[in-house]
Amino acid sequence: MSPLMELRNVDKFFGSTKALKHVSMQVHPGKILCLLGDNGAGKSTLIKVLSGYHNPTNGAVMLEGDETKFAGPRDARQRGIATVHQNVGSIPLMSVGRNFFLGAEPIKGKWPFRSIDTKKANTIAVEQMRKFGLTRVENGDQLVGTMSGGERQVLAIGRAMYFGAKMLILDEPTSALGVKEASMVLKMMRVARQNGVGIVFITHNARHAMSVGDDFCVLIQGEVAASFKRDEKTREEVLNLMAGGEDMTALEEDLEQID
Ligand SMILES: Nc1ncnc2c1ncn2[C@@H]1O[C@H](COP(=O)(O)OP(=O)(O)OP(=O)(O)O)[C@@H](O)[C@H]1O
Ligand SMILES: [Mg+2]
Repeated sequence: MSPLMELRNVDKFFGSTKALKHVSMQVHPGKILCLLGDNGAGKSTLIKVLSGYHNPTNGAVMLEGDETKFAGPRDARQRGIATVHQNVGSIPLMSVGRNFFLGAEPIKGKWPFRSIDTKKANTIAVEQMRKFGLTRVENGDQLVGTMSGGERQVLAIGRAMYFGAKMLILDEPTSALGVKEASMVLKMMRVARQNGVGIVFITHNARHAMSVGDDFCVLIQGEVAASFKRDEKTREEVLNLMAGGEDMTALEEDLEQID
């Protein structure tokens, strides 16, 4: 199968800072690509290139086989690339239904009596979240600020799926969550994968990466230091690579809880 998105020899320089150097990587439909790397390795810069925020200094971005230059994040979004940022961009004092649609609300009535169909928006939002196993939120009027971090992630991912995203870029979606919440988000990623969505999963967390990842890409100082598929390395090798030799026993135990 041809990749959904591909970077070929991408550089991104900020003055004398070389944030990305000769980065090549592929995102496949129905696969989860884990993007790993330490602070300052270039992960955010890389997702900004994928999501149309930055154009590369050199190299090519390919979308479904064609070389592409995004006009900006909106352009990328319209072409099916959804990015869910760490803070999810949710507005705490907005209702679940409103947040789900954010400017794309269903409208009822005819001009000049048109208004947002709040009931419909709420029903769709709640239904969509239920599909992903989030049953605790039953009322679309509930304010986003009253939802947990994991629930907000579910809302944001559900929204992207509803609007037909082909690719999901998730920036540390599980980093601030407890075990239960993280596993809810990881499960949701599996559902998105089953639906053929290509996922880029940025994480510092070895066990989360191992529990869902199909492909792995490790960035060190802006370069791809390792890139491999799940079965190409043993679980131990992957964990060690990600941790740089740290003791992984505790992580192994945690992994069992999640699976
Ligand atoms: N807009 C910018 N202007 C100048 N330098 C930048 C810019 N964005 C990133 N950099 C630099 O590029 C390098 C990579 O940064 P980046 O934010 O991509 O790393 P990261 O892997 O996301 O780190 P973290 O895990 O801390 O989020 C850093 O040296 C950073 O200072
Ligand atoms: Mg970052």
